Amino acid sequence: MTMYSESLRAFLKPVLPYLDDESVTEIMINGPTDVWIERKGKLTKTDAAFSEEGLLGAARNMAQFVGRPLTDERPRLDARLPDGSRIHVVLPPMAKRGTTISIRKFFKERPTIQALLNFGSVTPPMAKLLEAAIVTKANLVVAGGTGSGKTTLLNIMSSLIPDDERILTIEDSAELQLHQPHLVTFESRPADKHGKGAVDMGDLLHSSLRLRPDRIVVGEVRGGECFHLMQAMNTGHGGTLATTHANTPTDTLRRLESLCLMSGVELPMVAVRAQVASAIDVVVCCERLADGSRKVTHISEVLPLDDRGEYRTQDIFTFTTVTRGDEGEVLGYHAPTGIIPTFVHKARAMGITELTDAFFDPATYGLPPPPTAHVGEGVKTQWAPSLKHREKGHPDPDDIAAMTRGLAERLRAEHAQKKARDEEKRRAEAGAIVPAARPAPAQGGQAARPQGAPRPTRPGMPPPSRPAHPSRDDDDATPPPRRNPLQPPRQVRPPPPVPDGGVELSEDLREEIRARDDEATTGGDRERTALRPIPSGIRR
Ligand SMILES: Nc1ncnc2c1ncn2[C@@H]1O[C@H](COP(=O)(O)OP(=O)(O)O)[C@@H](O)[C@H]1O
Ligand SMILES: [Mg+2]
Repeated sequence: MTMYSESLRAFLKPVLPYLDDESVTEIMINGPTDVWIERKGKLTKTDAAFSEEGLLGAARNMAQFVGRPLTDERPRLDARLPDGSRIHVVLPPMAKRGTTISIRKFFKERPTIQALLNFGSVTPPMAKLLEAAIVTKANLVVAGGTGSGKTTLLNIMSSLIPDDERILTIEDSAELQLHQPHLVTFESRPADKHGKGAVDMGDLLHSSLRLRPDRIVVGEVRGGECFHLMQAMNTGHGGTLATTHANTPTDTLRRLESLCLMSGVELPMVAVRAQVASAIDVVVCCERLADGSRKVTHISEVLPLDDRGEYRTQDIFTFTTVTRGDEGEVLGYHAPTGIIPTFVHKARAMGITELTDAFFDPATYGLPPPPTAHVGEGVKTQWAPSLKHREKGHPDPDDIAAMTRGLAERLRAEHAQKKARDEEKRRAEAGAIVPAARPAPAQGGQAARPQGAPRPTRPGMPPPSRPAHPSRDDDDATPPPRRNPLQPPRQVRPPPPVPDGGVELSEDLREEIRARDDEATTGGDRERTALRPIPSGIRR
């Protein structure tokens, strides 16, 4: 343990239990005596309290740890620790209630599509459609609010990019963790204290286009670089992925349009719109719902502008909220809208045979069509078999309405069953025997699992497999820290239990087994998703 990690843990003593608790995803310190945590997407106030000086000391220690200034002159700090935890600090007097710090923790394991399926953020057919979008090189934007899971989804989708492609990633602060063999990663740099040396996302995009990319993956688009991104998408760089801050598919296009206008390029509005509409093929919207769960709420196709120059999108999959559970859980369902996307022909031509008309039919899954969905006005919408009557403008038959009526009850019953199953599983896991090769972790209360069983997934992001370097700041030449000060030191891990007659393994060997195990678990996910059959039940 380095001197810093030891001292930082000492400074952060009042919140140490939350740092070590894996179920806590974010710690928010709003001045010395107002500390909140996020668990399962829900905020709770804690009774943790710092002294004024202690908290300032913690902030300064973090700054020292990443080798960046945190002074009266530069009272804000953005930093990323080696495990990927993201820290932001604002000092008083700007922070009126005292030193303000937020620590966003990360998934301890690499996020996979399987994790999203387990969380009920997407369903297997949605995962299949997203995979098809990647394989057919659709230009795709992930949209949503802060903390809605955009970056997590971008990460997971990028991991589906085939290994033989040359991938260039551009971010403001490096969060993506890709493992393909041919990868070039760029991170922007703010200006130094003399206002010099800034390299922004636009500059890096400019370079990327000259570096023979097969794929460009852009973290959050939030400035004038958007115009160049749209141009790249329109000039043969298919399969570009990006995220942005917006709530609905059409809002996303409007947001990209206003970002394009920030580039200072003089173009008539309608030309910018046409660029945006033809650049983006698919918009995926994420949302953090009232119960703290994260859902993909829309997978929508972007159509050309209508005659009046307005954006047109059509929803392919949506999430519909139906009712609330006893503890405020949002109960609802993901379903296809019945609209068959126009890009489906390309996917079928590329051998993705699962995307039949029935794949897009809610009836295939025993679900009513979502009550509302954006349809591409003025285009000839193609509907799935059970909704063909809509093509002729006929009303839905009575049996569709009947299906919708029984839905809330059905969701509640299924939810109760799932809760009972989860509880049973939790109890069974709590009683399981700990295998020698995979010791139970020291902290976090993670239950042991039988040898060979898949690693359980849980909320939070995994530590990057190579150290995530903190976003560089101005004249800072200090190398990134090598160890996360927020993690408890290795040595505190208790020796693994050795079953009777078992062999005690060295720490090195255990590490290797763990790494191999990880690889096997994550490597298999893609395959499993690709082959997953369409379910008949409701997924939440
Ligand atoms: N599908 C999901 N289910 C549950 N938690 C999630 C999901 N996706 C992301 N998270 C958690 O939500 C937080 C925010 O995720 P992130 O992807 O950084 O959001 P954004 O990029 O939209 O701000 C992280 O703590 C992450 O672990
Ligand atoms: Mg993000």
